[in-house]
Amino acid sequence: MTRKATKKVAKRPKARARAPRRASRPGSAAAPPTRAQAVAARPAAAIRTSVTVSQGDAFRHPAPVPRPAPHRPTHPSMHHATNSAANHAAALTPGPGAPNGVWPLRPVGAIPGNDPPTARGAARRELLALVLAAGLGKRMQSKWSKLLHPVAGRPMVRHVVEATKGAGVARAVVVVGNQAEEVRLAVGDLDKRIAFAFQKEQLGTGHAVLCAERQFQGHTGDVLILNGDLPALRPETLRAFVAYHRSHGAPLTLLTTVITDPRGYGRVVRNYGGEVARIVEEADASPDERATQEINCGIYCVDSAALFRPLRRATRDNAQGEIYLTDLVGILHHEGKAVAAYRHPDAVEVLGVNDRRELAAAARSLYRRKAETLMAEGVSLVDPASTYIDAEVTIGRDSIIEPGVMIQGASRLGTEVRIGLGSRIADTVIGDGSEVLPYCVIAGARLASGCRVGPFAHLRPDTTLDDGARIGNFVETKKTRLGRGSKANHLTYLGDAEIGRDVNIGAGTITCNYDGVEKHRTVIEDEVFVGSDSTLVAPVRLRRGSFIGAGSTITTDVPSQALALSRARQENKEGWAKRFGPVARRDAQRGDKPRKKR
Ligand code: UD1
Ligand code: CA
Repeated sequence: MTRKATKKVAKRPKARARAPRRASRPGSAAAPPTRAQAVAARPAAAIRTSVTVSQGDAFRHPAPVPRPAPHRPTHPSMHHATNSAANHAAALTPGPGAPNGVWPLRPVGAIPGNDPPTARGAARRELLALVLAAGLGKRMQSKWSKLLHPVAGRPMVRHVVEATKGAGVARAVVVVGNQAEEVRLAVGDLDKRIAFAFQKEQLGTGHAVLCAERQFQGHTGDVLILNGDLPALRPETLRAFVAYHRSHGAPLTLLTTVITDPRGYGRVVRNYGGEVARIVEEADASPDERATQEINCGIYCVDSAALFRPLRRATRDNAQGEIYLTDLVGILHHEGKAVAAYRHPDAVEVLGVNDRRELAAAARSLYRRKAETLMAEGVSLVDPASTYIDAEVTIGRDSIIEPGVMIQGASRLGTEVRIGLGSRIADTVIGDGSEVLPYCVIAGARLASGCRVGPFAHLRPDTTLDDGARIGNFVETKKTRLGRGSKANHLTYLGDAEIGRDVNIGAGTITCNYDGVEKHRTVIEDEVFVGSDSTLVAPVRLRRGSFIGAGSTITTDVPSQALALSRARQENKEGWAKRFGPVARRDAQRGDKPRKKR
């Protein structure tokens, strides 16, 4: 029996999450963020990530049996508190630990909704942001700060800082501590509107805020304080929140949401009048308080005057021995100052990411959001749920993105571009009408218009394809330009090569660019024809219109219009097989006479 040889067609991508320093490649869902990654987060070189999620599970809630949340209005204003049905359906699904599968409902009914505005449109006050990013995030089970973990192409903390910029803050201060340098790089320290404060010891969120006090000296406006672990937060939400804060005139406004399984979050405790009285952390809460389903999201808007001085009164007298920022609520309330709460209907957007499950859910929500934006703009996504496109990517109208595609970093695609099944495109520009056939990996490349690449092609950094150029299957390129209308259709390596227009590169052509020490260039001028299985030993130049015979090894320059052949001349030995071939040898072993001619 002959066993069929199984041929390996495509190599698996190397560098899976093993080596932490280089693990930010796709497929490594939990790629530890590296310093390199943090550096890559700077605007110029966008970061690559890959959080692919396939389960349809609800954020934070495994939700075995979705049940409609019973509705017991006790306060007239709660009727608008449970809108956004779809999101709430997910957020209010009973968690697995819920008694009888349903969490106590009393608190939902007892929580008043957003009040109508009281004050007339508040005067414009300066708005500054304060992002808390000094913690480590133990529940991630990572050696890397939680805030460095990439979510849809950006470190978590960077999403938060970008959201504050989008909300129109004049300046943002980021408090760093754990892996301070990496976090600073992940945020991007080139923007003048961003400053950093240092929290040496992580003594709690309140302590983190106090560490930044100096940066707010002389500031008389509002401070938008945000936990750094809110990657899904949208600028629009922050704008609405700030507007709410300003129109209500309370010195402090909290952003809250209602979820069925509030475990792990600080609960919003209201008095009988429905006013926010304090926030109690899970560890300090009584069973009754724990049943409260309105949680603090770690998003606050505070009048500077009601922030630092009152917060200094917070103590470490609590279960975690930390200075809680959340104590500010009780302190202000005690002073008779109002604390407003803005209830956000879409819980997924405002829930902090604490572990890998929540990280994946946040990534999925960002990818979904991007998919919807693109579809609204006229891009077809064959299967939005299996398409992973980073926030900054742009794609022109009538482009089609097939399933299983990742498009990352600063990629820009023109109109009527098609990206085939299972391809990864990173930091690449693709011109109108170009097509990438399935299973290609393209990074740091520029494709002009009407190009066709793949299937199974690998275009590495500094690959440039001019209009109408073609790269076929099992072709790898690096630091190579392929001129207008030129083709390399099969099984080829082109590295450090300058290739003119209308050149044909035959199957199996290799540019031998590396001599063991240095890299050298291959120059192939316009209209050259390179026969199959040629090796071009660089440095070498094939001048315009020259021909290379198949199977040649070219070591010296080829003049224009010349034919270069460098292979042993073929010799045919007549009748050789009859005399020396296998049949003849077998016959000789048996002692048979040579067979007669027919
Ligand atoms: C915090 C809130 C909780 C809220 C939850 C929402 C407090 C005391 N509790 O809890 O009410 O429901 O967020 O997700 O604020 N950080 C520092 N320095 C520190 C500690 C934390 O900068 O010393 C940063 C972390 O990096 C993180 C943010 O503050 O970005 C929140 O810290 P985290 O430990 O996640 O707070 P939670 O316990 O989740
Ligand atoms: Ca948190």
